Amino acid sequence: MWRVEPDAVFPDGFVWGAATSAYQVEGAHDVDGRGESIWDRFCRTPGKVEGGATGDAACDHYHRWPQDVALMRHLGLQGYRFSIAWPRVVPGGRGAVNAKGLDFYSRLVDGLLESGITPYPTLFHWDLPQGLQDAGGWPSRATAEAFVPYVEAVVRRLGDRVRHWITHNEPWCASLLSHQIGRHAPGLTDWPAALAASHHLLLSHGLAVPVLRAHCPGARVGITLNLTPAHAASPSRADRDATRHFDGYFNRWFLDPIHGRQYPADMVADYRASGRLPLDWDRLVRPGDLEAISAPTDFLGVNYYNRTVVRSDTVPESGNEPRTVFLAPEAEWTEMGWEVYPDGLYETLCRVHFEYGPARIFVTENGASWSDAPGPDRRVRDERRRRFVQEHLRAARRAIAAGVRLEGYFLWSLLDNFEWERGYSQRFGIVWVDYETQERIPKDSALWYRRAINANSAEVD
Ligand code: FCB
Repeated sequence: MWRVEPDAVFPDGFVWGAATSAYQVEGAHDVDGRGESIWDRFCRTPGKVEGGATGDAACDHYHRWPQDVALMRHLGLQGYRFSIAWPRVVPGGRGAVNAKGLDFYSRLVDGLLESGITPYPTLFHWDLPQGLQDAGGWPSRATAEAFVPYVEAVVRRLGDRVRHWITHNEPWCASLLSHQIGRHAPGLTDWPAALAASHHLLLSHGLAVPVLRAHCPGARVGITLNLTPAHAASPSRADRDATRHFDGYFNRWFLDPIHGRQYPADMVADYRASGRLPLDWDRLVRPGDLEAISAPTDFLGVNYYNRTVVRSDTVPESGNEPRTVFLAPEAEWTEMGWEVYPDGLYETLCRVHFEYGPARIFVTENGASWSDAPGPDRRVRDERRRRFVQEHLRAARRAIAAGVRLEGYFLWSLLDNFEWERGYSQRFGIVWVDYETQERIPKDSALWYRRAINANSAEVD
């Protein structure tokens, strides 16, 4: 049924791109009036980030973007997904707009367009202005309200040239990972705060959609979710129920309200029963919020890295959801400790398309961390990454053959960069970055990607 032999070639107009995010690559943390973000603060909190690393300098993309755009052009990229740093544009989070911050993104957009590369900015990739955190952060509704004038300032400036807009990157990370698990900024471990944050992130998306449309006629607007297929470790009733719950926690909690289905009733009940739901949830979700959140969009962005195998006995009192990784003996693993599982991309794309029916889908992130370094000849032989990308593109192509409206693929990442709490220990780039000299070296995977783009096919050597 779904499994159709792939055609080698992708449909005409399929977008081949790569992605980065502001805090991970820009550096220049105190330049041109940029305000402090929660990641600046988190990195300076002892014990939070490997090696005490910060994004202060990162890849210095803020200054080196012309060179990076030239590199993208050299690789034949057709789209560049980057993010806009709220603290550059509105340093205090609300109030005065910093023209110099907007100037930077305006220059970048012009440079991309001159090189024939379509810009796909994301408006929030986790670097919340610290001032808003101090006033309550995402658990507070006021943060969702502050998002609107920030977005308006950006679209007023860039909306004459930018057509594709992504409101948020991975609200699961910006809420649960950072307010409940506590591994990302602001580092809280508070269930009700995390669930309140998830609602306000989704609400802010919903409030931003009409603002983007109003100031950018013909805008194509979407949101990016990180999705993972949830597989039961065994067919036992307990494992199957843990899998239902995990899928609800990670995928459906976000997919459902965006697609007009409200929050999943089984999850609201689970969270209420376990005391995790904010006590005032029914007042916190105000009349009209769910309508706003389900505003029609033009695409869904899907970030896919791995699957999750769920076992009920991983429900500890630790407060974490049941989640375990299946130690399939034949599996290959990246340095993040993530299983390589390309079929999961096919499964995810089919699930989203057939169960939720978004207008179209972009894979807005997919990639792998391996630290293969330049040899004496300066060549980076990252064969595992090349194979990873090829196999995931094959899975994507199979999904298209099965009827999924997938219109583009953005590789994570263009550059090696600051990988959040893992600091600089993880290299996801198809371009090597020497953090001492800021030299860039396209890895073998980048050169392969160029050939694939050229052929509009993953079936190239
Ligand atoms: C995603 C993030 C991205 C990057 C990759 C590896 O969750 O969106 O910034 O860190 O993981």
